Amino acid sequence: MSLVGYEKHGTVAVLTVNNPPVNAMSPGVPKGICEGVAQANADDTVSAIVLIGGGRGFIAGADIRYFSLPWPDGEESFADIIAAFEASPKPVIAAIHGHALGGGLETAMACHYRVIVPTANVGQPEVKLGFPPGAGGTQRLPRLAGLSDALDMIVSGNPVKAPKAAAMGIVDQVIDGDLLEGALAFATEKGAQGGDHRRTRDIELTLDDPGIFEAKRKEIARRARGMRAPFACIECVEAAVELEFDAGVKREREIFKECVKSEESVAMRHVFFAERAANKIPGISKDVKPRTIAKAGVLGAGTMGGGIAMNFVNAGIPVTIIEQSQEALDRGMGIIAKNYAATVAKGRMSQEQMDACLGAITPTTSMDDLADADMIIEAVFETMAVKKEVFTKLDAVAKPDAILTSNTSYLDINEIAEAIPGRNGHVLGTHFFSPANVMRLVEVVRTDNVSDENLVTTMDIGRRMRKLPIVTGVCHGFIGNRMLEGYFGEASIMVEQGAKPLQIDTVMFGYGMAMGPLAVMDLAGLDIGWSKRKDAGGGTAADSVGAFVSNRLCEMGRYGQKTKRGYYIYEDGSRRPVPDAEVDQLAADAAAHFGFEHRAFKDQEILERCLYPLVNIGADILAEGHALRASDIDLVYLNGYGFPGWRGGPMHWAGTVGLDKVYEAVCRYHETLGFDHWKPSPLLKKLAEEGKTFDDYDKNNAG
Ligand code: 3HC
Ligand code: NAI
Repeated sequence: MSLVGYEKHGTVAVLTVNNPPVNAMSPGVPKGICEGVAQANADDTVSAIVLIGGGRGFIAGADIRYFSLPWPDGEESFADIIAAFEASPKPVIAAIHGHALGGGLETAMACHYRVIVPTANVGQPEVKLGFPPGAGGTQRLPRLAGLSDALDMIVSGNPVKAPKAAAMGIVDQVIDGDLLEGALAFATEKGAQGGDHRRTRDIELTLDDPGIFEAKRKEIARRARGMRAPFACIECVEAAVELEFDAGVKREREIFKECVKSEESVAMRHVFFAERAANKIPGISKDVKPRTIAKAGVLGAGTMGGGIAMNFVNAGIPVTIIEQSQEALDRGMGIIAKNYAATVAKGRMSQEQMDACLGAITPTTSMDDLADADMIIEAVFETMAVKKEVFTKLDAVAKPDAILTSNTSYLDINEIAEAIPGRNGHVLGTHFFSPANVMRLVEVVRTDNVSDENLVTTMDIGRRMRKLPIVTGVCHGFIGNRMLEGYFGEASIMVEQGAKPLQIDTVMFGYGMAMGPLAVMDLAGLDIGWSKRKDAGGGTAADSVGAFVSNRLCEMGRYGQKTKRGYYIYEDGSRRPVPDAEVDQLAADAAAHFGFEHRAFKDQEILERCLYPLVNIGADILAEGHALRASDIDLVYLNGYGFPGWRGGPMHWAGTVGLDKVYEAVCRYHETLGFDHWKPSPLLKKLAEEGKTFDDYDKNNAG
C-alpha cells in the first residue's frame, strides 16, 4: 500500500499520509507527497491540494529511527516536499488533527494555509531529542507566530493546542466539524481565488526586542546547564532575524546536523525509545488487557499516602483514604487541600476543579469502607509486621479480586503476599517517589505470583496517573534505592577520606545532577538512615564506614535541612548549603578511627566513585532479571533521582565512557577499597570484554 494516498474530491486533490502509528516521515512518505503535488499540478481539473493525515494524527515529524540509520540514497526528504509546496502554483492546505510535531509542523508551515480541529496540537519538540528543528521550523515559526512565542515553543519543545495556535497565527482556521469537509471547503475557496498564494517564507519578520535572545539564554541557563540543544535553538531563531530566509535555513541545517551527531542527542533519543519500550513486558501478550478500576483505596495519609490519593483523582478514579485516627486523617487531608490550593494559586487549576478533586477523596478511619475498592495501595509505616497486619486486615474486607499494592521502599513484597496466600496473584508493589503527586516515576514491583492481568492493570493505572511506571523485580530497594546505596555510600565514604562535601556536590552538580548527594541527604533527613542503622541492631557505636560522620551529626541533632544543620549549615530562610568546619573535623575523626589516609581528591575520582557503583549494581540488577532492560534502569534514575536527561541515564552513559574503562575502574576500586558495591558485576565484565554497551545488551535481549 502506498504511504501517501491520492484522491480527488471535486476540484481538490487530497493527499493522505498513511504511515501508522503516527505518520512519521519514513522513507517513502516524502516521495509520495512530492509525487502527489506533481500529479495535482499536472491536472487542469485540480484547483487546490489538501495534505491530511490518515489515522490518529497529521504527521509526527521525522522518523526518529533514521537519525541513527542511513537515509536511503536518492530518497526524497523534507527539503523536497517544502520546495514542491513553495513552487506549487495551486494552493496547498495542511489539514491537521491529532498532532503536527517537528517536521510535521514544518511541513504544515511550508503549506500556503493550515486548518486544524480544536483538539489537535502543534509543536517543535526537537529540542527534547537534543537538536533544533531542521526543516526550516526555526525560520518559519517566528514568521507566523512572532518571535517571542516562537522562541518559547522551540526552546521548550512544548506543543500548543489548536485554539492557541490559531490565536498565535500558526494556523488559519479552526474547523469545528469534520476536518476533511472543512478543509475541502477552505481549499475550494482558496483554489477559486487564483493568483499568488502567501508563502510563509515571504512574511516579514520584525525584531521588537533586541534583548530577547540574551534574556532567553539567561532564563534557561540553570535548567539547560550542560546542554547544547536549547542554546542551539536560540542560535537558529537568531539566524532568522539576522539572515535572509535561505541563508537562515542553511544556518539552521548546519546547526541541526551538528547537534544530531552529539552525545546529547544520542542520549535523548535513547530516552525517547526507552520510554516507549518500558510499556512492553516480554512474555505478556498484547491480548492481556487492563481491568477497569472504578474505585480505589489508599491506606495511610502520611507523606506518601496523600500524594498517592491525589494521583488516583488525577486519573479520574474516586478514592477512599484511611488513617488510624481522626487526627492523622485531618492532618493528611489538610496537606492534600494545601497542595491543591497551591496549584490554584499558580493558576493551573480553578477553585471548582479543586473542590471536585477534594470531593473525589473520601477520608475515613474504617477499613470496612474499602469493601468496594478495585485497587488499594498501602502506604503505612515501613515495618514488615505493620505491613503484614494491614494486608491481613485487607484480606478480610477487600473485594476478592481487588488489586492490593504496597508502597514499601525496601521490604520483600513476596513475603507480604505470602501473608495472605488466598490473594497471592493480586499483591504487588507500587513504589512511588516523594512528593508522590509530583514525581513521575513509579516502580511497579512484580511479585512471584502476581497475575499478568493485575500487573498490566497496575501499569495502566500508573500511566493514567500520568506517571512513568517501570517494572522491577523484588529485591532490596528494587532498582532505584538499591543502586542509590552505592552512590550515597561512596559520597559518605569520600567525606570520611578527606573530600569536602561541597567539592563532591559541586562535581556531581556539574555533571548535571539536580543536586549533589550530600545536599540530597541533608534534604531527605540524615535521621532516616540513622534510625535504620539503629533498628538494624548494635546501636551506632559499631560505626560502619560511611556512617561515622552521619551518626555523629545525628547524635548532635543535626538531621539536615529540617534542623538547619547537617553536612552543611543552612541560614534562616535559605536552602543554600554553607560548608562547616565542624563537619571537616568529624571527617578527620572518621579517618583516624578507620585508619584512612585523609587526603585531597581529584574531581575525576569523585565522579567515578559516585557513578560507577550505579553502573556496577545496575548490571547485577539486570543480570538477575530484576530489571527488564538496561534502559528501564536509566529511566528510573532519570525520573526518580535527578539524573540529567541529556546523559541518557547511568547505563547508557557508561557506554559512552566505554564499559572496558568502567570495568577496569570498578576492579581497581574493589581492590583498593573493597566495599560490596565494588564487587565487579559478571555482566559488566562480560560486556566490557566483548566491547559492547548496555544499549547493545538491550538490543540483543529485546523481548
Ligand atoms: N519517529 C519514529 N517513531 C515514532 C515517532 C517518530 N517521530 N513518533 C512516535 N513513534 C513511534 C513510537 O516509538 C511508538 O513505537 P512503538 O509502538 O514501537 O513503541 C509508536 O510510534 C507510538 O508512539 P507513542 O507511544 O509515543 O504514541 P502516543 O500516541 O502516546 O504519542 C506522539 C504520539 C505525541 C506523536 C508521540 O509519539 C511523540 O511525541 N512522537 C515524537 C514527536 C517528535 O519528537 N517529533 C519530532 C521528530 S524530529 C523532527 O521532526 C526533525 C525535523 O525537525 C527535521
Ligand atoms: P508516614 O509516616 O509519613 O505515613 C504513614 C502513615 O500511615 C501515618 O500517617 C500513619 O498514621 C499511617 N498508618 C500506620 N498504620 C496504619 C494503619 N494500620 N491504617 C491506616 N493508616 C496507618 O510515612 P511515609 O513516608 O508516607 O511512608 C509510607 C510508606 O511509603 C513506607 O512504606 C515508606 O517506606 C514508603 N515510601 C516513603 C517515601 C518517602 O519519601 N517518605 C518514598 C517512597 C516510599
